[in-house]
Amino acid sequence: MSVKKFPEGFLWGGATAANQCEGAYLEGGRGLANVDVIPAGKDRFPVALGQLKMLECDNEHYYPGHEAIDMYHHYKEDIALFAEMGFKCYRLSIAWSRIFPNGDDKSPNEEGLQFYDNLFDECLKYGIEPLVTICHFDVPMNLIKTIGSWKSRKMIDHYVRYCETIFTRYQNKVKYWLTFNEINMLLHLPFMGAGILFEEGENQEEVKYQAAHHELVASALATKIGHEINPEFKIGCMLAAGNTYANTCAPEDVWKSIQKDRENYFFIDVQSRGEYPNYAKKMFEKNGLNIKMEKEDEEILKKYTVDFISFSYYSSRLTSADPQVNSQTEGNVFATLRNPYLKASEWGWQIDPLGLRITMNSLYDRYQKPLFIVENGLGAVDIPDEEGKINDAYRIEYLKAHIKAMKDAVNEDGVELMGYTPWGCIDLVSASTGEMKKRYGFIYVDKDNEGNGSLKRSKKASFDWYKKVIESNGECL
Ligand code: BG6
Repeated sequence: MSVKKFPEGFLWGGATAANQCEGAYLEGGRGLANVDVIPAGKDRFPVALGQLKMLECDNEHYYPGHEAIDMYHHYKEDIALFAEMGFKCYRLSIAWSRIFPNGDDKSPNEEGLQFYDNLFDECLKYGIEPLVTICHFDVPMNLIKTIGSWKSRKMIDHYVRYCETIFTRYQNKVKYWLTFNEINMLLHLPFMGAGILFEEGENQEEVKYQAAHHELVASALATKIGHEINPEFKIGCMLAAGNTYANTCAPEDVWKSIQKDRENYFFIDVQSRGEYPNYAKKMFEKNGLNIKMEKEDEEILKKYTVDFISFSYYSSRLTSADPQVNSQTEGNVFATLRNPYLKASEWGWQIDPLGLRITMNSLYDRYQKPLFIVENGLGAVDIPDEEGKINDAYRIEYLKAHIKAMKDAVNEDGVELMGYTPWGCIDLVSASTGEMKKRYGFIYVDKDNEGNGSLKRSKKASFDWYKKVIESNGECL
């Protein structure tokens, strides 16, 4: 019997995002961004949705990203811990407003550029390959105030200049890039995901798809420029993935599940196949959405498609055409129907390892490009025992089952997989709830929901477990 394993050079690692771990939100010349004004607490969702307009910080709210886990000052210690686990790869994002504090500045902020130089050098010192998300939800506030963020076509130029700057600067340090984190999030959390606010009377669907068009063109241009600057670059897209199951075998349910999946595939269809799918064109027509496109856009999208498909996977989804079936549970932003065959996390996110294999197969069948799982994991409450140790057996169980499923997808189904970077490899601020209590890490950070704590880092039981997984290239689970 052949041993199931991962390819040589498989990129094991972990993932974070600047706005959820760096903190130091106004240090080093960094400018204010949408992600800085999204508070914890009851106003978080209304602000993230763009329903409650908040463009400055106030004293009444707590903004968990301002300090986060202060990785800005702890990155050496944190990367040393990643290296101790044997990381081959570390996925992080660059904070756009560290490089261009206002988004439209004449020249980039040298202090910001230097910070990431230091961070990449630290990774490379340990042989850790950086995988960089160019935009993980953040938009410089000035661009939101002056041009309405991605609503405006002018954003393409600002984003492209930002890409050109970081591609040029880091061309010998970074090879793997992602243009936009969870690009489909724009439809669900427009302010948090893309800095979009709506005016009275605006057709919100039209605004969102117009903004999406701008991001898609910007992403294609980034791919073009990146490959010109360094032909060795591998540039990918990033989808919040998870297949949608039909609640029953009623054809109406099956049809609804296909339509639900298309809402997400739409973005990757454009980024990977290089053109708007017919179902999207028909949807625009049917709903009277008038999306403005320039003559050259078609060619740009066609010519500069992504090299690989990256995605986050936390859970599968479930849908029904029957309005009577409506028992919902939480998911990665998309609420979904409760699947009676699945258990759920403390936050209601359903746990479905086989769903990862299903999702990988769907994406690979559809695009025939290498995949990269850049987020996966269990958000859970961790309680230290008497000796202060976190025995997170539940997290190990979750990850083990998902790694087994991805092993099957690779070995049994022949899916090409470049790597695996579980989310929040060090505890950080939750994007959906703003909590610290929702932890994903192998490394515990002493900080609570209210911002108290020493920020001390300590290893959880999963730290040693994951180290062995990496050491054995996934054979020892
Ligand atoms: C993804 C995001 O949606 O899921 C991350 O890319 C986020 O930014 C992660 O943190 C987990 O979600 P949450 O809400 O548990 O932090």
